[in-house]
This record gives sequence, structure tokens and C-alpha cells, in this order.
Amino acid sequence: MSIIKVKPIKHLRAEFEVPGDKSISHRAAIMAGLSDGVCRIDNFLPSEDCLCTLHAMNQLGAKHDVLETQAGYGPTSLNIQGMSMQLSAPADVVDCGNSGTGMRLLAGLLSAQPFDSVLSGDASLCSRPMGRIIKPLEQMGATIHACGDVAGCAPLRITGGKLKPLTYEMPVASAQVKSAILLAGLFTEGKTTVIQPAETRDHTERMLDYFRIPSVRVGDEISVCGGPIPESRDFRVPGDISSAAFWMVAAAAHPGSHLMIQNVGLNPTRTALIDVLIRMGAKINVVVTSEDQGEPCGSVEITGQTLHGTEILRDEVPNLIDEVPILAVAGALADGRMVIRNAKELRVKESDRIATVAQNLRAMGAELDEFEDGMEITGGAALKGAELESFGDHRIAMAFAIAGLFAQGETIINNTACIDTSYPGFADHLSAICLGHSPK
Ligand code: S3P
Repeated sequence: MSIIKVKPIKHLRAEFEVPGDKSISHRAAIMAGLSDGVCRIDNFLPSEDCLCTLHAMNQLGAKHDVLETQAGYGPTSLNIQGMSMQLSAPADVVDCGNSGTGMRLLAGLLSAQPFDSVLSGDASLCSRPMGRIIKPLEQMGATIHACGDVAGCAPLRITGGKLKPLTYEMPVASAQVKSAILLAGLFTEGKTTVIQPAETRDHTERMLDYFRIPSVRVGDEISVCGGPIPESRDFRVPGDISSAAFWMVAAAAHPGSHLMIQNVGLNPTRTALIDVLIRMGAKINVVVTSEDQGEPCGSVEITGQTLHGTEILRDEVPNLIDEVPILAVAGALADGRMVIRNAKELRVKESDRIATVAQNLRAMGAELDEFEDGMEITGGAALKGAELESFGDHRIAMAFAIAGLFAQGETIINNTACIDTSYPGFADHLSAICLGHSPK
């Protein structure tokens, strides 16, 4: 079993880049594979989640050549051969590993194909709700049988075919559901519209536009018309702000720290963490240096301060949903109360993140009340080192490795191999930071 051991540090001083964005890497593999030629993708995230999607696209006929790799993980630069929207039937079950994004986006794609397929994944993924994509995709004409042990869960047996366009009002604010429907809509004759109850990350829309498939947004409605084939384009994936989030909180909460993260994605549907940290008193300077590939990207500079608790606003929740575990750690380190509500979706992520965050924070001596849709943390109590579980959830493992940097004594996180699903090389970056160096 892989473990991470952490001891407190005095402050954090570093300048570096985090690996490529997970959400964008999934979409780059899919869109390049649908395109009409060869696309070079740089800074692809070679995490287990994204490698599963890359492999799935291979199974559907979109082969790739590796140009550069991150040793021990996988390709970071590659040429993907597009299939001009003519995918071939997979010979085997398509394994999505731990990835909800991979499974839900691929379900949209596969529903529209003239062949049958099966999507599966690990135990965590096979316990996550898939009804939210099955319902709209069946309304478009697919047949999807959720044949897992848990009702409504994977494996998914998909009978694809000619779909009809759909206008769908999403009951949950989910970028994965939105993207599954939009991808399916590309294969229909007509206009597919998704109405979202709150703003969710818009990487799919931006990438469709970048590959010359216009999507139209009017208020909460996003539409795409089926028919055109994505034009092959080269694309560089920006760094993942959700990975940077761990270091951002570590620096923001440590007076005397200075952190510069370069070339990180600054898509406004992903940056609410920065707004919240600023509200908590952090000193943050954000500079957008490029937006040429449809995704804003730049640097985030943080100077550590004493943080104060805050309330996360309802509309901010989808924008920072993946950052809640590390924000909860920030709340425990801040003085005053941190209130996180309207975040019931956390219960169906890679782990039940309300329960797993609460359990680990309490084990470190933090005070909090847990609710069905969130938690209220009374910050300021000194954290003490503890032996903690990751619950097989990458973001829990990393959030509590960061908490350990502030705790008295040693913190041990068990079962940390899951970190490879989103942040290959995290343990090396952590070691460098602990030694007072900038990670390479
Ligand atoms: C993702 C969307 C989010 C997020 C997940 C990645 C995506 O989920 O939690 O890690 O890439 O579309 P939902 O918006 O579906 O809740």
C-alpha cells in the first residue's frame, strides 16, 4: 500500500507548473478523435482517468502516436488520428477506471453510434449515479441498461443508434451531464439544447468552438447543431487549477509563504476558489497571459496571510465543487466559521466527500458540524497529526497531505495510489516543497 507521510513546514516558497487539466484532457482526447485529421495535443494529463479515455478512443479507432511522456505515467504530447466522426465498434468492454467524466462523456458519444458497447469502471465508479445521463440519452433514442450491483449504476450496456435532437432541462448542475448530451447532439440532425440550473464548467463548449463546431449560449441554455465534423487542430492543455488548488491553499494559509503557479487554466467557470480565498483574506494576483486556444491561461501568485472563515455562495458551488475538500482544510486553518452548504453533489463523487472530509478533519482535531448538503467548520483549533485514510479518493488524499503541512507532529495518509487518477507526480512535488525547493 502506498502512503504519504507529512510533517509541518514553516512556509512554502515555490514557483512551478502543475500538470495538465483533467477535464480538458478528457475532452481533447475525445474531440481530437472525432476530428477530420491529425491533432497534436501537448501537456496532456497522463493520469489514470485521462489515460482510460485515451485508451477508450483507441478502442473506437482513434489511434495515437506518443511524442513525449512523463516517466512512469504516460504520454504528455501526442498526435491523435481523428476518425471524422466515424468511430468503430470496440472489441471489448471500455474501462473508464475511476473516472465519472470519462464514463459520462463516453456514454454520450457511444449512444449515438451504430453499434453496441459496454462501459465499466472500478468499484467507486460503479457505485456512482448514472441515471442522470441515462434519462436524457434514452430520450434521444439510445437504450442504456445499467447492469451494476447498485441500481442505476455501471456497467452500462449501451445500444446506440440514430439519435434525435433534444431540449433538456438538467435537474442537477453537472458539466458531465451537459457534455454527454452535447456530444450525443453532434450526431443528430438538428439542434440539441441543454438548460443548466446553474453555471457549470464550460470546457466542452469552448473546445467545440475551438474545433470549429459552434455552440450557442443564451442565458442558461447551450445549444449545438449536429452534422459538421470537427476540424483537426493542435491544442495545448493548460495546467489544472484543481491541482494547483492544493498549493494555493497551502501558501494562502501560511503567513510568510510565496507561491507562483505558471501556465494554469483560468477559465472563469473554474476560478471560484480564488474568489473565496481572497474573501478569506488571501493576497492573490492573477494574470491571464493567453486565451488563444479558447481557454484562458496564466499565472497565480499568492502571498500567505492569516485566513478568516467565509460562507460559500450557492452559485459558487458548481464552480469549486472539486476544491471543497481542500477548502474545508482552509476553513479549519482559518479563524471564524466556514460554511459550505448546497453541496449535496459531494456525496456522489469519488467518495462521499462530505463524510470523508468530516471524518479526517475530526481525526486531526478540527471542530465541525456535518449536514446532508455540506458542513460548518469552526476554524482555528490547532490541527494535530493523525493517521488518515484516502478512502480511495485522490482529492481527499491530497487535501489531507496539505493539512499535514500545518499539523503538529506527523500525518500519515494511507492508500495514496489514487492520487495518480488526477495528479501524477504529486508526491514528488510535495517532497520538493517540504525541502524548500520549487518542484521541477
Ligand atoms: C467534471 C465536472 C464536475 C467535476 C468533475 C469533472 C467535468 O462534475 O466534479 O471532477 O470534467 O465535466 P459535475 O459537473 O458533473 O458534477
